[in-house]
Amino acid sequence: MANTVEVCDLKDHVGAEIEIAGWVETTRSHGKIGFVVVRDGTGVVQCVVPKKQVDEATWDAFSGLAQETSLGVTGEVRADDRAPGGYEITLTALDVLAEPVDEYPIQPKEHGVEFLLDHRHLWLRSSQQRAGLRVRDEVEKAIHDFFYDRDFVRIDTPILTGAIGESAGTLFETDYFGETAYLAQTGQLYVEAAAAAFRKVYCFGPTFRAEKSKTRRHLTEFWMVEPEVAFADSDDNMRLQEEFVSYLVHRALERCADELETLERDTAALEPVKPPFPRVSYDDAVTFLQEEGHEIEWGSDLGAPHEAAISEQYDRPVFVYNYPKEAKAFYMKENPDDPRTVLCDDLLAPEGYGEIIGGSQREDDYDRLRRRIREEQLPEDAYAWYLDLRKYGGFPHSGFGLGLERTVAWITGRRHIRELIPFPRMINRLYP
Ligand code: 4AD
Ligand code: MG
Repeated sequence: MANTVEVCDLKDHVGAEIEIAGWVETTRSHGKIGFVVVRDGTGVVQCVVPKKQVDEATWDAFSGLAQETSLGVTGEVRADDRAPGGYEITLTALDVLAEPVDEYPIQPKEHGVEFLLDHRHLWLRSSQQRAGLRVRDEVEKAIHDFFYDRDFVRIDTPILTGAIGESAGTLFETDYFGETAYLAQTGQLYVEAAAAAFRKVYCFGPTFRAEKSKTRRHLTEFWMVEPEVAFADSDDNMRLQEEFVSYLVHRALERCADELETLERDTAALEPVKPPFPRVSYDDAVTFLQEEGHEIEWGSDLGAPHEAAISEQYDRPVFVYNYPKEAKAFYMKENPDDPRTVLCDDLLAPEGYGEIIGGSQREDDYDRLRRRIREEQLPEDAYAWYLDLRKYGGFPHSGFGLGLERTVAWITGRRHIRELIPFPRMINRLYP
């Protein structure tokens, strides 16, 4: 296989005879001429089979090709504006590597989504799925580039942990040599420790929540990137978020134009995503929602319809900031101007995508944090190390978590976030 050319590099081989290796997407033939569309993972190319110019065995082999047969194709590369991708191969020889033993389950017709999810291991090969996951890959790379360029240190935080990161209601528990361990809901508490060592840090990895919700924006295993910055307050935090999100969107627009086209994404809706993003206080959000006829009382968290009603007002993501204490996690800093609220923000994506970021300034006062841990009836022992950060050189600090799948679903315009992770885990799905 060492001599095979990748389809994405065909432009460098026009006029030459080369070999590619891949899988059959489709075949068709009009008597004297046959076509086989081959996908090699880097691209898709149409190979033309002129009946008169190939030997009988090759024509027979072509005629017997089934969808998803793996094969090698030898032929000459031609530039052709009409061909998808701009290049074609005139086939001279064909080498079948493996024929499917059965008809390929995914046919070019509409399948139900449960069927497709049951065949996720094969569904990955479909063009829109490939496009979505390539955008995910670009966004992941952009995340690392953004923080690397700003001198953040990447900190890999543990997945097995003894401290509850977010809320006791959605924990996956496992036996840890006789103790209880939880799968991390967040890496935040650990990056807070690292912020005192490196000032600007981030973690990026899988996080786990036993969410009983079956919505299009909940997974039980999802990836989250969580920066944490020492000596940054809630306003600094929001500024970092709007720069970060704008950077990710424009990287995808610049480098994933083909994928976004495959996904039929209206990219005009992404162009305005630039700082500054609008900022709406929780108080104003509730007043607005009540005026619009929504049933919401001051004190409760915003639901999906509330978020949609707010974000509809803007052409870019919008911050809702300073929520009531009881609607948010224990570690958020009390707002000195209104102690019923905490210094935090949710970033709501446009077009109904809802919350993609949750962020806050952290409670840095030892006594107040300990009180909050007690109020929430969290096991204080497990947080001794976390309280130490307030004992030895407490410092104002802020950070946030961006959900990768929700962000990529918004950028790609896909309705369900389950398509933006290679193998989704949901309340009723552990297979494949
Ligand atoms: O708002 P959350 O719960 O915030 C935290 O976990 C903080 N510890 C982050 C921090 O300050 N370091 O979650 C952050 C983001 C959400 O805005 C959402 O994008 C995503 O994580 N998220 C989920 N994505 C998919 N499925 C789920 N079940 C999710 N839960 C949260
Ligand atoms: Mg949140």
